[in-house]
Amino acid sequence: MNKRIWLSLAHMGGREQDFIKEAFDTNWVVPLGPNVDAFEQSLVEYLHEDRYVVALSAGTAALHLGLILLDVKPGDEVICQSFTFAASANPISYLEAKPVFVDSEKDTWNMDPVLLEEAIKDRLRKTGKLPKAIIPVHLYGMPAKMDEIMDIAGRYGIPVLEDAAEALGSELNGRKCGTFGELAALSFNGNKMITTSGGGALVCRTEEEARQTKFYATQARDAAPHYQHTHIGYNYRMSNICAGIGRGQMFVLDEHVARRRAIHTLYTELLKDVPGITVLQNPDGRFDSNFWLTCILVDPSVAGKTREDIRLKLDAENIETRPLWKPMHLQPVFVDAPFYGNGTSEHLFDIGLCLPSGPTLTDEDIRRVVDTIRQDM
Ligand SMILES: Cc1ncc(COP(=O)(O)O)c(C=O)c1O
Repeated sequence: MNKRIWLSLAHMGGREQDFIKEAFDTNWVVPLGPNVDAFEQSLVEYLHEDRYVVALSAGTAALHLGLILLDVKPGDEVICQSFTFAASANPISYLEAKPVFVDSEKDTWNMDPVLLEEAIKDRLRKTGKLPKAIIPVHLYGMPAKMDEIMDIAGRYGIPVLEDAAEALGSELNGRKCGTFGELAALSFNGNKMITTSGGGALVCRTEEEARQTKFYATQARDAAPHYQHTHIGYNYRMSNICAGIGRGQMFVLDEHVARRRAIHTLYTELLKDVPGITVLQNPDGRFDSNFWLTCILVDPSVAGKTREDIRLKLDAENIETRPLWKPMHLQPVFVDAPFYGNGTSEHLFDIGLCLPSGPTLTDEDIRRVVDTIRQDM
């Protein structure tokens, strides 16, 4: 049997263990410390904007605290991209707020600005209130149409919490994803652009927001010598050990982004004359995806095979792939949530597949994936 090709494996650069060792040697084995501070600082520098970064235990925790900072309360509505991973939407429910899902447009597969505005107007008509926040997602690393989304959000005065979990290193108009919204969430889960084994961060615009994030992430302790609480808090801070991994990973982030883009370029080249298969591309020069995962669409009427035929065939050849995210409005758990749609995400879910894209893949691995897809076509 050929060796297994995985969808997206972590890759260590080599410096990670030095920072972990330093934490042990100095006894900073706690959820704060020099690695946390330095990791946050290197992310601020990487994002290249005037921002504050707070390292947390997960991207999901960052979204949760982001909604708390935006004052989302039980019964409030929050607009969220439907075509995403459940972690984008779950924190809305943690706060007993109500998700309102908006479909994607065809160019980026992300939140459709036209439907977003329709949704805002309709919620205002139906509930007499504006949604409390908007969560667009840069899915698979492809930047959402943030110019249009920020313009609409600004006109209605609704803050944007950007889900940039998959988009570290992606740019729109030369500006890094994670710097467009009032707040943004990053993820350092094992399969992401860089990993801290599990972790995330909230990107804030002000020092005060960063202070509040740290406050809520460390059990919301009031300033008193004893333990006193006037707010509900969480245990969401990143450990100094995990941050040591993150510090090391920052040395290979550029390399990871370059490799994932090169993998996408090679897939595009090798698949270009395979009938019925298209690879998601940057729609125009403004967009510069990190191509966290290379995604294809399979038109069965031309390819003579379905997405599922291809997935099963690859699996039989020991190659891991994944259907595109199942949209949130189709998830049983969100069946009652309002949805503003145009059929795009349902169609993408039916015919789309994520191909192996991790930085440890070799060109030979990619050729094996494509050769397997091409068999009997
Ligand atoms: C789009 C999206 N949002 C949020 C998350 C949550 O991040 P985490 O796994 O770090 O909680 C992920 C990844 O898991 C994701 O892919």
